[in-house]
Amino acid sequence: MNTVGDFIKSGSIDIVPILTLVLRKSVASLISHSDYQLNNIEITKLNELVDKRAKGVPFAYLNNKKGFYHLEFIVTEATLIPRPETELLVDIALEILDKDSNYEIVDLGTGSGVIAVTLADIRPNWNLTATDLSVFALEVAKKNKTKDINFLHGYWLDAVGEKKFDMIVCNPPYIAEKDPHLKELTFEPISALTSGTDGLDDIKAIIKKAPEHLNKNGYLLLEHGHDQQAEVVKLLRKDFNNIKRFNDYSNIERAVLAKVKK
Ligand SMILES: C[S@@+](CC[C@H](N)C(=O)[O-])C[C@H]1O[C@@H](n2cnc3c(N)ncnc32)[C@H](O)[C@@H]1O
Repeated sequence: MNTVGDFIKSGSIDIVPILTLVLRKSVASLISHSDYQLNNIEITKLNELVDKRAKGVPFAYLNNKKGFYHLEFIVTEATLIPRPETELLVDIALEILDKDSNYEIVDLGTGSGVIAVTLADIRPNWNLTATDLSVFALEVAKKNKTKDINFLHGYWLDAVGEKKFDMIVCNPPYIAEKDPHLKELTFEPISALTSGTDGLDDIKAIIKKAPEHLNKNGYLLLEHGHDQQAEVVKLLRKDFNNIKRFNDYSNIERAVLAKVKK
């Protein structure tokens, strides 16, 4: 009653990936050895993970890993689990910036480091800075780096002192504090998710401070919520031009790129 096959038949949520985690075997190997009898230590570990998953803990927090772009990132309960739609920000930066230039780029609110680490990995000649208000998130991001990155702790652009950049990129918290969808996100840090009553407090703070931290013709690249694009564009108009809007791969309005008026 305690074979791999028995557990698979139980139909528990994510039982196959949980079995791969506990037994350190591939899915193919599990299936071809479905009569393997788990020992007591393995059963205890498996039940613990099955219980956590049943309570809603995301699988990424069980194996502490999440893929983003071509890399695998450590994630912990101090970091947001990186979302595939955030890969759009990386695509936009790679598309519009010259691959051979030595740009200064900052990723604000880096979390697990996905944006900064991916850009630094693909374009090692770009100088990446990554910030976060959470020292715990910064510790995780540091472990994820594959190339040199300057990590700074602090409130948005206050963290960088006088420094100026060719691009500021940010996936900020943008969910409204009373958004009903928050009920589905209770395991992720609230400080990575919500931003005031309309979800725009942090975006407003970043747009306000960005011009003084951008070089001539520098870019601000922001991810935002599905219903925020028009408002974000409006907020950008005072100090930015060449405003471009982007939809994510589910065709949902998701990002804005703007060039500072300087
Ligand atoms: C939506 S998460 C994005 C994390 C990561 N960049 C990603 O895309 O997966 C927002 C991040 O901003 C950080 N953050 C929240 N408020 C901040 C602030 N005032 N200053 C700097 N970082 C902040 C959070 O700790 C969190 O890591």
